[in-house]
Amino acid sequence: MKKTKINSSINSFPNVRLRRLRTTGAVRDLLQETRLSPKDLISPIFVQEGLKKTQQIPSMPDIQRMPLSKLVVEVDRIMELGISAIILFGLPLQKDANAKSAFDGGGIVQKSIELLRKQFGSKVAIITDVCLCQYTSHGHCGLVVNKKIDNDKTIDALAKVAVSHARAGADIVAPSAMMDGQVQALRTALDNAGFAEVAIMGYSAKQASPLYAPFRDAAYSAPEFGDRRTYQMPFSNAREAMREIETDIAEGVDIVMIKPAIPYLDLVYTARQTTYVPICAYSVSGEYALIKAAAIKGWIDENSVMTEFITSIKRAGANMIITYHAKKMAELLSR
Ligand code: PBG
Ligand code: ZN
Repeated sequence: MKKTKINSSINSFPNVRLRRLRTTGAVRDLLQETRLSPKDLISPIFVQEGLKKTQQIPSMPDIQRMPLSKLVVEVDRIMELGISAIILFGLPLQKDANAKSAFDGGGIVQKSIELLRKQFGSKVAIITDVCLCQYTSHGHCGLVVNKKIDNDKTIDALAKVAVSHARAGADIVAPSAMMDGQVQALRTALDNAGFAEVAIMGYSAKQASPLYAPFRDAAYSAPEFGDRRTYQMPFSNAREAMREIETDIAEGVDIVMIKPAIPYLDLVYTARQTTYVPICAYSVSGEYALIKAAAIKGWIDENSVMTEFITSIKRAGANMIITYHAKKMAELLSR
């Protein structure tokens, strides 16, 4: 019997023409592998205690600090756009060495949660940033003892902050101080206080990144001395990032986060391949500012670049994305 000759060129040009699948918009739509939905997005909100009216943040065009009285209108708009989750950042009037205003039951974040819960019930997922840097007089994410950040004292304080947020009605608390054992401390404290159902989103692999600069302007939270490199990750270390993710998982984290997003898509992808825990990517203030600045100069098209960046974050493997573009992106998706 004659052997069939396998034509090795059947799987290459000219039999194969990849451009056949790009001929029209409708065909391209059919082939689109990654689709964004407003439900993928988490919209950050800065709420400032004692503020009279909404204030534009200079280094973050179209993003504002807002007073408590403007919060309901803002979240109404966010939900109208189809987004169902927000992350709250509080800017308190009082700062001190112990970050007391961070776990005060009448604090700005706690009041914001209560208000939103009363207004929107369970329709909005309320995530809160759990850190001390906006609340300490020195601007560090932890408590300082002898000029050093004291890990174990800090995680006790973070646990108190998380419980106060849970008591006010938060769905998900997100510890961002990069202290060792912070997830475990929060889980134990939440469970002991009767909040076993409150989830923890760990800022697991949070890099010491200059891309946080606009946020620190916005939140008045730049450290007064030194920098954050004794707790945030060196951005050169991918294996260490995976250990941070592993330890958070071992401590019972419900969602892991990688932050910033665009320069760290390798970490998002690796996490996607190595764990089944849901992954959040936080596209930070500096990533936002870069796009905005170039768009304002007329050097790039804002909507197209925004769409490309956010799509790439999802394509790399993020289940959810925190982005300051959330509202604009959702608006564009609804057209
Ligand atoms: C607080 C916190 C920061 C960000 C999120 N939570 C600032 C920091 O670590 O200095 C940065 C977010 C952004 O740049 O958008 N620890
Ligand atoms: Zn912090």
